[in-house]
Amino acid sequence: MWFAILSSKEVRKDRPVGVVRFGRNIVLWRDENGKVNAIEDFCVHRRARLSAGKVINGRLQCPFHGFEYDGDGRVKLIPALGRSYRVPERFSVKAYNVVEKAGMIWMWFGDGEPRGEPRFFEDIDEKFACAEIRETWNVPFPRAVENQLDVMHLPFVHRTTIGRGNRTLVNGPVVKWIDGDSFVFYVFNEVDRGQIAKKPEELEGLESRVYLEFIFPNVWQNHISEKVRVVAFFVPVTKEKTMIYLRFYIKATGIRPLDRLIAKLGMQFNKVVLHQDRRVVETQEGDIRKDSLVQGDLPIMEFRKRLYGEKKLVEFLFG
Ligand SMILES: [Fe+2]
Repeated sequence: MWFAILSSKEVRKDRPVGVVRFGRNIVLWRDENGKVNAIEDFCVHRRARLSAGKVINGRLQCPFHGFEYDGDGRVKLIPALGRSYRVPERFSVKAYNVVEKAGMIWMWFGDGEPRGEPRFFEDIDEKFACAEIRETWNVPFPRAVENQLDVMHLPFVHRTTIGRGNRTLVNGPVVKWIDGDSFVFYVFNEVDRGQIAKKPEELEGLESRVYLEFIFPNVWQNHISEKVRVVAFFVPVTKEKTMIYLRFYIKATGIRPLDRLIAKLGMQFNKVVLHQDRRVVETQEGDIRKDSLVQGDLPIMEFRKRLYGEKKLVEFLFG
């Protein structure tokens, strides 16, 4: 599957960037045409970090002895042996499949060869202005995702912000799979007046004002309105660390600089909300398999069904 792993703007044209994703050191750079490449961040020669090197004519140059790599991870030049020397194929490092979409770099991490294209929300077009922040949490990937699928935590964690009103009783929630990779879910929380939480099937046909959408494996949006969205990408750094890219999309005035300013200001509030989450989520024990879930956790259960089917990801998380 395609994983969003990095914001496009973090890969510059003039120099490489080194990151850790899925516990691996990866270096990314753009060639002359702006196309992004990603290879293992260690020189095949004596294991210097390639991300400390330079981009020269679209190739990545090791800072140690000037070995030059192409996007397939192959050494094309060993300066000490001369420009005319033909470098044997064994001088190569692992290359990763990456593509760019929606202002993110996506990497193939899954069973088999890359298939299809990364998916983003089709209803977020270029008319939206966007603000973006990122931070790394000390939690495994599923913990970061599931926090955003959790409708029961709102009146507790976000008592003073988005969870105001003491609506602790969680009807449903209703989860609707759109296709094999994406689902939406609706929130029907209400004040507890002694009633019992309704089952999802009792709510069939109802759609709440607030709806959330998830695209497996790591893209989420809070569909606040046609013109306002909060989007998150959850990026596995190591088994225990997850980077969250949070975006605030807005299409308020249609005047771009103004919309951008509003997005930036609005992001401050989103950051407060995110940090309310972080305070609690980072206390969770890492292993999701020990959890005892209840009806209100339905979106989390649906996510897990899909997660457990991905061999390579399961191996990374639990292996
Ligand atoms: Fe939250």
